[in-house]
Amino acid sequence: MPGGVTALPASSRRSETLGGGSTDLVVPVLKPLKIGDLVVDPPILQAPMAGYTNFAFRQIVRQFGGTGLLATEMVNARGFVWLDEQEATHPDRLWGVAEEPRPLAVQIWDNDPETLAKVGARLAQEYKVSVVDINFGCPVRQVTQRAKSGSYLLRTPDRMGQIIERVVAACHPTPVTAKTRLGCSRDKINIGEVAEIVEQAGAAALTVHGRTAADMFRGEASWDLISQIKPRLKRIPLIGNGDLSTPQQVVEAFTRWNVDGVMIARACLNKPWLFRQAAAALRGEPIPPDPTLEEERSLLLHHFDLVCQRFGEERGAVLMRKYACCYAQGRQGARDFRKQVVEIKTSAEFYDVVRRTFPKA
Ligand SMILES: Cc1cc2nc3c(=O)[nH]c(=O)nc-3n(C[C@H](O)[C@H](O)[C@H](O)COP(=O)(O)O)c2cc1C
Repeated sequence: MPGGVTALPASSRRSETLGGGSTDLVVPVLKPLKIGDLVVDPPILQAPMAGYTNFAFRQIVRQFGGTGLLATEMVNARGFVWLDEQEATHPDRLWGVAEEPRPLAVQIWDNDPETLAKVGARLAQEYKVSVVDINFGCPVRQVTQRAKSGSYLLRTPDRMGQIIERVVAACHPTPVTAKTRLGCSRDKINIGEVAEIVEQAGAAALTVHGRTAADMFRGEASWDLISQIKPRLKRIPLIGNGDLSTPQQVVEAFTRWNVDGVMIARACLNKPWLFRQAAAALRGEPIPPDPTLEEERSLLLHHFDLVCQRFGEERGAVLMRKYACCYAQGRQGARDFRKQVVEIKTSAEFYDVVRRTFPKA
């Protein structure tokens, strides 16, 4: 959500049980998660997040491991076509995509089948991405009301089907997936019908965030409703998403809610090592401990360097403010750190604030 990150409940941010040692969680028997021919192992996906999941962040996530598939921020397909035609350049959000290790999904949004197909084909053939994902879940006004895209398309499932069919044909053999919500609002939940249309149109997987568009990020994600989608899908996997912030919750998504894969968004901004911990829990292995605060501080500075390599120190410093707040979230002293870090303008200031006020406990 471009408007900023909505915090998860404080209790879910840092699990007391994550101190290493063994876990007594029930280990689910997992089928391999396949998206087309791509085996997603482990079946834990890093969610697309606009403004956050750029190449620098994805490098941090890859470094920790534990994700079977990473995703870019959502890319405006119309903007891509326009930039290509007018300026012979491609969107900033494709930074790193061409050379980055695979697997990698690029998410695109618009409401026009031809535009999406054109961009999907470029991503599949020129960039050789592993998966082209279509956004049918964004609830932000700029995307819904102004561009009649994202979750707006949940009003017209047939249109979603037309879009998917065109993009699948254009991207073949690269798999195309859909990411959506339960419906437009609580009284218009239509994910069952949508799921069947998505599958019939040829998508290779469906990801569902267990809220409606009207919910935005309010309330809790309905995993019960997510699990009810499963019988509607005959061929393709169901990936559940919403409020997962501990390895235990990830395990439960498989054992209790019967999904084929899970996707994690906000919690990984605070704990990019969560994937590695969740993957260990799924295998029934001891959960690796959180990094120490010293290691977290070094990670933050390493992340800062990656951002500055691309955007320069001045822009990098501003861009890093929000990540720095995410890293500190839930820690003692986070408020004081946040107050100072949101004011920084230079690399020297960033280093100084991190050194002096990054939480120490
Ligand atoms: C800052 C932010 C940006 C997001 N950007 C996107 C996006 O570009 N595409 C998308 O499909 N979902 C986007 N989402 C939604 C997430 O992918 C995810 O569905 C949602 O946050 C619920 O998962 P979580 O509870 O694990 O955070 C965004 C969410 C946040 C918080």
